[in-house]
Amino acid sequence: MNNIRIGCGYDIHKFLEVALFEKAAKRLYLGGVLIEGHIGVAAHSDGDVVLHSLTDALLGALSLPDIGVLYPDNLKSTKGVSSIEIIKYAYKLVQEKGYALGNADITIITQTPKISAYKEQMINSVSAALGVDKSCVNIKGKTKEGLDSVGKQKAIECFSVCLISQQ
Ligand code: CDP
Ligand code: ZN
Repeated sequence: MNNIRIGCGYDIHKFLEVALFEKAAKRLYLGGVLIEGHIGVAAHSDGDVVLHSLTDALLGALSLPDIGVLYPDNLKSTKGVSSIEIIKYAYKLVQEKGYALGNADITIITQTPKISAYKEQMINSVSAALGVDKSCVNIKGKTKEGLDSVGKQKAIECFSVCLISQQ
């Protein structure tokens, strides 16, 4: 089993206050997909919880430094950086170590949007960013049944697990 490794990643971002009606406040990215018209999240980058949690799962599988170490949120140079670029870089590191993605299973926890409506688009986007087959990536949504900060629509969170194997 030496050639198979598991990774786990988590991320949460706060939704912006609804009072912020500038265009920028209306940008929610999930798995690289822009969710049209939905309130966005507070973030140094584009705040994509799907890509951030999956990036940490990929890096964690090989005990590599996590996303916050590779892309510190206090650096001007990383402000507004696309999370697609971040995950591409992380997966390049994984591939340079001789590994490739087996599969990733991703759970987005949020009251809105309804993830099932975007599932296919997100799977296409994430698998294309990594250059892997669509069947390697699964994405699903869950509410928090109105409980806690996520249930009160103050935040959106995401868990990712992945298996990578030595080529
Ligand atoms: O039925 P249960 O309480 O276990 O789950 P839920 O949180 O009420 O979600 C029911 C179903 O809605 C999920 O299994 C997903 O298929 C879908 N869902 C979604 O697509 N997007 C969300 N943000 C939440 C749930
Ligand atoms: Zn994040």
